Amino acid sequence: MAPRPTKQDFLSIGDLAPEIPALLVRAERGKRARRRRSVRPTLPGRNLGLIFEKPSTRTRTSFEVAMNDLGGHALYFSSRDLQLGRGETIGDTARVLSRYLDGIAYRAFHHADVVALADAASIPVINALDDLEHPCQILADLLTMHERWGGRFGGRRLAWIGDGNNVLHSLLLGAAAVGLDLTVATPAEYAPRPEVVARARELGRRTKASLALGTDPSAAARGADALYTDVWVSMGDEGEQAAREAAFRGYQIDERLLGLAKTDAFVLHDLPAHRGQEITDAVLDGPQSAAWDQAENRLHAQTALLERLLGRPTAAGRAR
Ligand code: CP
Ligand code: NVA
Repeated sequence: MAPRPTKQDFLSIGDLAPEIPALLVRAERGKRARRRRSVRPTLPGRNLGLIFEKPSTRTRTSFEVAMNDLGGHALYFSSRDLQLGRGETIGDTARVLSRYLDGIAYRAFHHADVVALADAASIPVINALDDLEHPCQILADLLTMHERWGGRFGGRRLAWIGDGNNVLHSLLLGAAAVGLDLTVATPAEYAPRPEVVARARELGRRTKASLALGTDPSAAARGADALYTDVWVSMGDEGEQAAREAAFRGYQIDERLLGLAKTDAFVLHDLPAHRGQEITDAVLDGPQSAAWDQAENRLHAQTALLERLLGRPTAAGRAR
């Protein structure tokens, strides 16, 4: 297969910042089509490789189903299955897989490895979660908010309660890109990385999105349109489990905290949840939980993303 002359990677949600609104509209259209069982197979014969260094339920399954729906194919490799696990370099792996595949989604421990794969590959590389970002997750989260708020982010405020981690990093950039106000409450020692915050502020200048960082969960939740949390101990952070569980006590989304938000507020969680830690059963299973729609939306958001990245370019340089 001839290498493509140009390619678009998706290593950060910021990589497609100006296109996010159009992707969300496309994802909503695709979701409706799937419910009618009339998804158009727009990627016939295309092959997506999935290289996963960490476990996954949602990301792996939604990528595999999306490729199947679109008439293409997905191949899953744990990193141990590849020669990568025996020392073949990321660059050599990328060069070889680029001769077989049309795209690669990579879940890695280190963001630098995702960048190295993308740099050496001649096909689009998608960040399927690393220590810095989880951009596919945030595309689905924005879709979930978009459909609940009738397609408008302006004037809405989301509160993040918990760790300043990969999911928050992508959320900071994604919220800024679409003009969604964000209030963040993390323990001071688990704040998001300053360089990501700076980039989010830069993106938010154009959309006028406001961003407030703090440490008080109640202050963040008060009057919010939605609350969002994630695990206190991410994959790769297990060595800090005890310290983290101590630091995050008080950062749980429970019925009291949810009661401070607007009465019609909903709760986001990217899952998997550690029930009884960052979120209670009552909230996650309750009427204000959006977590299950959010999980479903991984499929619809990624379907739109795959069409954009792996679809045939038009004269305008965009996928159909
Ligand atoms: N939210 C998410 O990425 O889930 P998985 O780890 O199951 O893919
Ligand atoms: N922050 C979590 C997200 C899991 C989908 C992790 O990296 O483990």
